[in-house]
Amino acid sequence: MNKLTTLLLLLALFLASCQQQPESQQQTTQTSQKWWKEAIIYQIYPRSFKDTDGDGVGDLKGIIEKLDYIKSLGVTAVWLNPIYSSPNDDNGYDVSDYRNIMADFGTMEDFDLMLKGMHERDIKLIMDVVVNHSSDEHEWFKQSRSSRENPYRHYYHWWPAEKGEPPYRYSLFDEKGDAWKYDSLTNAYYLHYFSQKQPDLNWENPKVRQEVYDIMKFWADKGVDGFRLDAFQFAAKDTTYPAFPEGFEKNFIDYYAMQGNLHEYLQEMHREVFSKYDVMSVAEGAGRNFEDAHNLVDEDRNELNMAYAFEGVDIAKPDGYSLGHFKEVFTRWDSAFAEKGWLSIFLANHDQARLVSRFGNDSTVFRAPSAKMLNTFILSMRGTPYCYFGDELGMTNIGFETIDQYQDIAAINGYKKVKHQGGDVEKYLKDLKVSSRDNGRTPMQWNDSEYAGFSTAKPWLPVNENHKTINVAAQESDPNSVLSYFKKMTQLRKDHPLLVYGDYEIIEPEHPQIYAYTRKLDGKGMLVVLNFSAYDAGIQLPATLLLGDIMINSEPGLERRGNAMTLRPYQAVIFALN
Ligand code: GLC
Repeated sequence: MNKLTTLLLLLALFLASCQQQPESQQQTTQTSQKWWKEAIIYQIYPRSFKDTDGDGVGDLKGIIEKLDYIKSLGVTAVWLNPIYSSPNDDNGYDVSDYRNIMADFGTMEDFDLMLKGMHERDIKLIMDVVVNHSSDEHEWFKQSRSSRENPYRHYYHWWPAEKGEPPYRYSLFDEKGDAWKYDSLTNAYYLHYFSQKQPDLNWENPKVRQEVYDIMKFWADKGVDGFRLDAFQFAAKDTTYPAFPEGFEKNFIDYYAMQGNLHEYLQEMHREVFSKYDVMSVAEGAGRNFEDAHNLVDEDRNELNMAYAFEGVDIAKPDGYSLGHFKEVFTRWDSAFAEKGWLSIFLANHDQARLVSRFGNDSTVFRAPSAKMLNTFILSMRGTPYCYFGDELGMTNIGFETIDQYQDIAAINGYKKVKHQGGDVEKYLKDLKVSSRDNGRTPMQWNDSEYAGFSTAKPWLPVNENHKTINVAAQESDPNSVLSYFKKMTQLRKDHPLLVYGDYEIIEPEHPQIYAYTRKLDGKGMLVVLNFSAYDAGIQLPATLLLGDIMINSEPGLERRGNAMTLRPYQAVIFALN
């Protein structure tokens, strides 16, 4: 054998040994390619997207009708809020039959057609799995509460009243804040972390877990592409129900999240479901700290694919937020996940007020520029971006004034609680006006007609008056609209894997108005420069950054001399780096 042949042989052996590495070893780096890392997820709140049967409530046929629109956005997956049978105490987050479609939304036939239509367009579907709790109208609960001997009794958490009152548990939605509800039928209390109509399932019961895996397989067999596990960090509980220290509810996450055997249950779910299908998995909430978050998503643990952490979205309070805090949080999370694990990037969802009203500026002048800038942020960070429906238009808060305008159980019961406790009702309403979940749930603004093209009937929640000017029809025909910009931005991300996989590094972290960062992969790079303020903002970028072409610019033109530039209010620019 000559030297060259020997070398080639050695090289071949080396390559073969690389291929034989166990999967977990190959996939622990940030750059291992996965479709769910490259996905751009569009979240649809089905109740508010498009109504086709004239009852004022969105439906699956409405989503089918709008599939070409969804495709045109450049998104690659849809996360649908729950569409299962439900009495709608919490708009579908109270499921009464996990294998059926909510009557308001249509039929299983509609679902199958919708899924087919998505797949024909290369759009994946992520289902919301609500299994920390069910509806009290689910057959399991009806059986469970019927007698202490019923085989379904231990599907839920019960505390027999002869033991006295159960140790206090805080409920997020209860009008008294009490998570135990007395049920006279069997003289016992049941546990509900959310509303009284959302009893918590007992995950310590293996039968419950098996039921859930069977339900997930039912949907995976239909071909869905992923699961978002609602409130799942709360699922495991200590069924001795120990007393918690007084005032624990102020930090209830510390007592409720990631308890007991939660990780074992996720590993079991992985074995039973995730490992058998090409599905992505994400759970709402990432626990109490980075360690929890990593334990959920590090690939070698076989639990979930990506963390959906709240610290970022929680930055904005009713009275605003600081850019310094924003940068610090997103940078800290990125660096904690720089080597292992994967994050979701989002600034809005169905539990929040509108993106542009919370994080941007919804005044007439700055609404569009700030919406473009925020969408640039979401679509240029490392992690899988989640875009909430309507944010591609820069839809704004509706800003209700009185409590009877709200539909959301969290708002209504929160109000009752403040009243009951003799709290400041005016302050509560003032905060609710900017932070309520209903702000993010008003109907999609398709056009300027009476009900915004959402429905022919009065919608379940009023359409925002500004649909006369902020709507899809107007923005589709305007090349400078928030919508047109959104499409360019999704295209940029899809064309440049470095925006998915590239390293992130913050530049000039102390700048009071600008958030700038680089993304770098395999010797290529981009620089993202975002003006988060309503004023011109100058920045002198380090000379080490060799600026190349402008890849995208949210405003016409840029005032620039070399590495010194002045961005207009809310301007967003991405440069290639040479
Ligand atoms: C999650 C959902 C929220 C729902 C709650 C109870 O937080 O995102 O909308 O109200 O769980 O299911």
